[in-house]
Amino acid sequence: MIHFVLQEKLQRAVLEILPDADISSVLIRPCPEPKFGDYQTNALIGLAKRNKLNPRDFATQVIDKIEVTDFCQPIEIAGPGFLNFRLKIDALSATLVDAAKGKHLFYRTALKPRTIVIDYSSPNIAKPMHVGHIRSTILGYALAKTFRLLGHKVVTDNHIGDWGTQFGKLLVGWKQHLDHKALERDALAEMERLYKLVNNDCDKDESILASARKELVKLQDGNTENRAIWRKMINLSRHQFDEIYSRLRVEFDETLGESFYNNRLKGVVDELMAQGIAEESEGAQVVFFNNHKALKKQPAIVQKSDGAANYTTTDLATLEHRQKTWRPSEVIYVTDGRQQLHFQQLFALYDRWKPNHGIKLNHVWFGAILGEDGRPFKTRSGEIIRLADLLDEAEQRAYKTVSKKNPDLPKDERHEIARVVGLGAIKYADLSGNRHSDYVFNWDTMLALVGNTAPYLLYAFTRVRSIFRKLGDESLAQPESFALDQLEELALAKHLLRFGLVLEQVVDECRPNYLCNYLYELAGHFGAFYENCPVLQAKGETRTQRLALCKITGQLLQTGLETLGLETIERM
Ligand code: ARG
Repeated sequence: MIHFVLQEKLQRAVLEILPDADISSVLIRPCPEPKFGDYQTNALIGLAKRNKLNPRDFATQVIDKIEVTDFCQPIEIAGPGFLNFRLKIDALSATLVDAAKGKHLFYRTALKPRTIVIDYSSPNIAKPMHVGHIRSTILGYALAKTFRLLGHKVVTDNHIGDWGTQFGKLLVGWKQHLDHKALERDALAEMERLYKLVNNDCDKDESILASARKELVKLQDGNTENRAIWRKMINLSRHQFDEIYSRLRVEFDETLGESFYNNRLKGVVDELMAQGIAEESEGAQVVFFNNHKALKKQPAIVQKSDGAANYTTTDLATLEHRQKTWRPSEVIYVTDGRQQLHFQQLFALYDRWKPNHGIKLNHVWFGAILGEDGRPFKTRSGEIIRLADLLDEAEQRAYKTVSKKNPDLPKDERHEIARVVGLGAIKYADLSGNRHSDYVFNWDTMLALVGNTAPYLLYAFTRVRSIFRKLGDESLAQPESFALDQLEELALAKHLLRFGLVLEQVVDECRPNYLCNYLYELAGHFGAFYENCPVLQAKGETRTQRLALCKITGQLLQTGLETLGLETIERM
């Protein structure tokens, strides 16, 4: 891909001048202002400063060493020392010719594939999944797919919350108040009811709290009856989670869950104590981060005063297992922003427990989903919104719109379109914003046919497909070159070439919204092209070239949407 060639030449030129430079950050990016060029690098400025050179002089020296006349106009220096690159039409054309032949789709798979573990979704047993878990599920899966598209090895692990103190109360509820019919109807709802009921009773009555503790100890000690009930709760919950995952078409390689690490927890605490990392404080084992600016004030507890390990201890054991089993270069955790402190502590603790582990530990956090009132998204009666209900509503709303637009389509097809559009809309709303920002859940915005939405992009894809339906069985000729003499053709071509660069940015920063924006712009460029450049009515070589541009655009929209975890449809 051209940007890789550019990048490699740039890096080599830098090394010729500064043989010891760290070139891993010498990267080519899309030029934010198309009028200055197609690609840009801002990496030379920092590099020059670190080496006490004048940035503009350094940039001039670098330009002297790069040989890119084959595919670039003369490189320009801008501002304090940016380099701007503008492609020659011939180079663009040659890249498109290869893409039209199916040789590539403007990205390159990694020369040195990395292994990445991604921990996402991770709901809790006996509690319904809610909108917070959907954001983790959707973001995590899109990241996994992007890393895989670029040739990396990904292990996805659903770290289900299947262990912990809540099971004491749940066991009391199960033994004393279980409504079998309700359990059959909606297991998670019934388990949630039991938990709330006992939790309430515990506040009022010390003896119930005591019996919950007793049940918990029995479970931990391996009591057969309690273990069997616990197993049952896990199976029922997982069954319901799996229904959601299969509707969302989301998969995992592993679902180990917290309980998988039970036998290791005591050992972890012992090691932390022996290494002098954990110390006793009021009967608990605690880790202080005195040398850590941000964490100084909040110690992490690894063993409570009653002797029980906790979420942090479990995560330490989990990370150790992941390191041993998969030897990843990176572990990514996708959760909401409220867990930032937990992961900061976890990472700092792991650094001390296993110095030189060499893994990049990455908490990919996201903001809250809010209702129209700006408060956490709830039902009218103030309850947490269940995922299954949300997905149903998305499909129903999309069905109404589709039926209004296309009353003549067969009912089955309308349902299928509504399923893809409705679920796509929910997914896309989770993906398209800056993940650190909260976002307001709004049906009308996410289902709109205009704007940066799933329906808009899915529709753009169907438009491309309809061109090829009109062709019937006419076979497509291969263009030998692309003239790109119309403004809109050129803009579309340049945008197509950037796909690989955008994928790199997505994995670098774990931000699928870059891909969303890219596809949205792609649809815009395609629209302008299709409006201004006749395709089916064009003649000869022009027709061949434009049809090829349509075909590549369609492939790219499809690959892009699928990488985000969306399905596509042929018409809507
Ligand atoms: N079960 C947790 C929750 O619902 C999320 C777990 C995230 N993963 C982890 N390794 N801590 O909040």
